[in-house]
Formats: sequence, structure tokens, C-alpha cells
Amino acid sequence: MEYYEQIVKNRNSCRAFADKKVGDDVLNALLTYYEDDESDLVDEIKTELKFYVGTVWEGLKDCVGYNGFCIKAPAYMVIFSDVADHYLENAGYIAQGLTLKMTELGLAACWQTINDADETKRALGAETDKAVACVVAFGYRDPDNDEKKAPKKSLDEMTDGIKYGQDIDTALFYNELEDGLRAIAHAQSFQNRQPYRIIVDYDQIVLVGLPDDLTTEADRLLNYGIVMFNFYAVMWAIRPETPKWSFEPVTDRDLCLPPDVTYVAKCKL
Ligand SMILES: Cc1cc2nc3c(=O)[nH]c(=O)nc-3n(C[C@H](O)[C@H](O)[C@H](O)COP(=O)(O)O)c2cc1C
Repeated sequence: MEYYEQIVKNRNSCRAFADKKVGDDVLNALLTYYEDDESDLVDEIKTELKFYVGTVWEGLKDCVGYNGFCIKAPAYMVIFSDVADHYLENAGYIAQGLTLKMTELGLAACWQTINDADETKRALGAETDKAVACVVAFGYRDPDNDEKKAPKKSLDEMTDGIKYGQDIDTALFYNELEDGLRAIAHAQSFQNRQPYRIIVDYDQIVLVGLPDDLTTEADRLLNYGIVMFNFYAVMWAIRPETPKWSFEPVTDRDLCLPPDVTYVAKCKL
């Protein structure tokens, strides 16, 4: 409850930052979290976390950000990753853990869409064999920034019961899942489009992707990683068993997915 209320619900994107440096102590706290506590979706995929403080905006502005507009921030976090099946969901999941850690540390952040990953890597002068997977601008929110919270889909719109498109019996299913499901409905997504839904059953939840012409393949996969992390983090704070997402298909029941809806992953409860 506390983690959902204080961290997940309180986070919102920031597009105007104070002119205040992000100190080494804060960067070290983020790095320690990444190295010691971070959970991931696919263990075998190797990632690297790098911070860029100060002068990289000039280089980044041509390759990341909506409509070629990169948010100016005192610092940028970049996740580099080996390229393998599910590497973008995995990187999105890891970067969301770090984004929520930033919220805990009093920082604000804004994810940046990557328009050209190779160009971004060149602009950063990154010496690594891994690919750029996520870019997040961060720093301290400008006290005069009165950016409003983005309106989100209701829990009702976000969840189905047992099969796709079937009304959910909220009294039966929400119960202890409610905060975890709200964390999914509250997650950030490319242009706040939230093109996904959750099918809740007695023993598992399933994440499915909805068709959306505006969201690119890369941003769609990053979105999925973000919502999977939000659910994991809130449930983990509520109860001792760690929920684990799996990309294995569902073979023991019919989810009744329409042809344009894609299965993403399931999480046993
Ligand atoms: C994959 C991804 C890419 C995004 N790219 C940008 C971007 O380039 N510029 C921007 O201002 N916001 C970007 N955002 C932030 C979303 O617009 C924001 O999360 C959404 O509007 C919901 O608002 P909230 O984060 O305050 O909940 C991105 C978010 C995601 C998940």
C-alpha cells in the first residue's frame, strides 16, 4: 500500500528541471540499487547502466525525444543491453526500477523515445558492444513546474476477467491484487497511450498488447517492461512471494484474444 501510494502513484513525468546538479552520492545510490537489488525479466541478458551528467543534450537532441525534441535535463540515464529476445522488455523493466528509485530519492524523470539507437550511441560516445535500449532524462523538478498528472485509464478499462473482453468480478478478483493492478493502470507509456490490458484469472494475470498505430515496436516493448515492473514492485512490497513474469505462452486455457491483440506475458499469483 505504502509503496504504491508514496512511490508509484506519486511519480509523474517531468519536463522542466531545476538548474541543480545531481550529486555523486545520488548517482552512487542509483548504481548500488542497479548492482545489488535490481530485479530483471531475463537473467541471461547482460545490461550496462551509464549516467551522463552535464553537456550531452546537444548530441542527444537529434536522436531522442518526441518529434525530435529532447527534454533538457541535468542528467540522463541510459541502459545499454545485449540484443536478444525480449531485451527491450527487460531493459524497460530495469529502467522502471531505477525510475521509481529516483522517485524515492526525490528526483524527477522523463523517459525519452529513441528515434535512432545507433545515432544515440554515437552521440554519447559510448564505448560498449551493447545497444542503447532506454534513455531517461532526470534531475530535480523545477519548483515552478506545475505539470499536471496525466489522466490514466480506469482500472475497469484496464482489466478483464478470465477471458479477453469479459467483465471482471471486482469483488472476487481485486482483493489483494488491487494495488498491483492500479500500479499497471498508473504506469507511464509512450504518449500516455496505454495500449495494453490485463486479463485476471484465479491463478495468474496475463498482459496483452492492444493495436496502436502511433506506438513504435520499440516503445511498445518498453511499455510492457514498465508495467510488468510496476506490478512486481507493488506486489513484492505487499507479500513475501515474489511474483515472476514469464514470456512462455498460455496453453492450458483459451484467452479468446482477437486477432489484433497480442499475448505478451503471464504472471503466476
Ligand atoms: C517508452 C516511452 C517513451 C517516452 N518518450 C517520451 C518523449 O520522448 N518525450 C516526452 O516528453 N515524454 C516521453 N515519455 C513520457 C510519456 O509521455 C509519459 O509517461 C506519459 O505521458 C504519461 O505521463 P506520466 O509519466 O506523468 O504518468 C515516454 C514514455 C515512455 C514509456
